Amino acid sequence: MHDAEILNRFLDAELNVHPDTLTALMAQEDPLEIGVIASARTLQDCPPVITPEFLDSIQPASPPEVAPAEKPVEVKRPSRKTPAAEYDENLKIRTDRDITRRSYSVGDIEGFFRYFNDRYQRLARVLRERDQMRDVMDIESVKGRAQEEVTVIGMVQDVRPTRKGHVLISLEDPTGTVPALILNSDRTLMRLSPEVVKDEVIGVVGKMSRKGDLLIINDLLFPDLPVARKQKRSPDPVALALISDVHAGSTMFMEEAFEKFIRWMEGRLGSPRQQELAGKVKYLVIGGDLVDGVGIYPEQENELVIKDIFQQYEKIAEYISRIPEHVEVIIMPGNHDATRQAEPQPAILEEFAPAFYDDPRIHMVGNPCFATIHGVDLISYHGRSLDDIISTIPDQSYSDPEKAMLFALKKRHLAPIYGGKVPMSPEERDYLLIDQPPDILHFGHVHTVGVASYRGTTVVNSGTFQKQTSYQRKNNVKPDPARIPIIDLHEHKTTLMRFL
Ligand SMILES: [Fe+2]
Repeated sequence: MHDAEILNRFLDAELNVHPDTLTALMAQEDPLEIGVIASARTLQDCPPVITPEFLDSIQPASPPEVAPAEKPVEVKRPSRKTPAAEYDENLKIRTDRDITRRSYSVGDIEGFFRYFNDRYQRLARVLRERDQMRDVMDIESVKGRAQEEVTVIGMVQDVRPTRKGHVLISLEDPTGTVPALILNSDRTLMRLSPEVVKDEVIGVVGKMSRKGDLLIINDLLFPDLPVARKQKRSPDPVALALISDVHAGSTMFMEEAFEKFIRWMEGRLGSPRQQELAGKVKYLVIGGDLVDGVGIYPEQENELVIKDIFQQYEKIAEYISRIPEHVEVIIMPGNHDATRQAEPQPAILEEFAPAFYDDPRIHMVGNPCFATIHGVDLISYHGRSLDDIISTIPDQSYSDPEKAMLFALKKRHLAPIYGGKVPMSPEERDYLLIDQPPDILHFGHVHTVGVASYRGTTVVNSGTFQKQTSYQRKNNVKPDPARIPIIDLHEHKTTLMRFL
């Protein structure tokens, strides 16, 4: 579709469109449908100019092409076709982004200062790339500029409602702090205000008050992903299987379903089409919580079939040893695994899972893990921050984990809410920061499956192989077990396989 054609559609609908919106739409494979324009018209808050941000707000993150969950059927004759075996391994794990064998944190005051300064500097760099942030100034230098327009980038020290119903945000940069106000009359910003969280870095455009001591916010920007970005594809037709939260050792571990998953990987289960997909799988990422662990929560022993953590790892290692030779396996820890709990987490310790370390095609990595697979950038993170996002931010839920993942992407941080349930180690640098937008973002932890696409990033939560636990029952969390996403890295098509 030609850009003039898209522009005309907007004009026909009596809507003005920002040039960035056109650029964003042109980058999409399937530019805007008339229905979206129509829906925009019906919105009371439709702005005078359609910006890319507004477009995002009215278009729910549309899932990429997801084939319906398919249940594999037993076959008599195993498939011999494994195209993935014909391609060499092309996996680069970013060891500089992996905390394993790198933690220097002693948790002193200077350590926290360095950590937050690193977070500020790197996110400020991301924000400076935005057009609106061209004239950014130091916070100290905006004070006293009565009634002048100013632009700043600050870390949120505090955010709270005032008695008059405005929202007061205290902003800090290395030069100083300034109070900034969202007026309750600004409906767009008021709607956005519950998403502003402490210790994140935001861009603010506004006007200083008459006395020059308060910044009235006109525009507020999260670092976010660039609007127009092409998702990188693998030149080779290989696929990536994503799983997490297997919880071997738990009474709720769905061993039969996991056995089916392994049999499908072995080419012993599935329709010809399903076997064809299995034959393409060249990489398997296990995003943490391989075992249920021991002493993770009170009275856990009552819910364990295997009460010894070494034996829990032996159990899962037995299954993984059956995965075909040509498949590279990336193993990351979660909060149930045998490594430190504070994030970033180093790889699962060798003494607990020696079998993994003996297998040359198993890559033991920390949490999070940054990797490039056949040219496609992947970030895998266990996903513990989802608990904080879902419990703090309006309209988030465990049944739609991908929405909470989009929140993290917009903040360019895997754990954007500091000081919640995620224990954080103040390393010299912020290992959970998203400097470069990934092509695929993979989380687990919440035991529900979710797939979405946002500005050139495929967002996937890989669910679980554990039935509902008593803890989840109490908290009304309904798991979505034994459904796993497979991503074709050449076509960027996601298929959900169901192993129930
Ligand atoms: Fe977890």
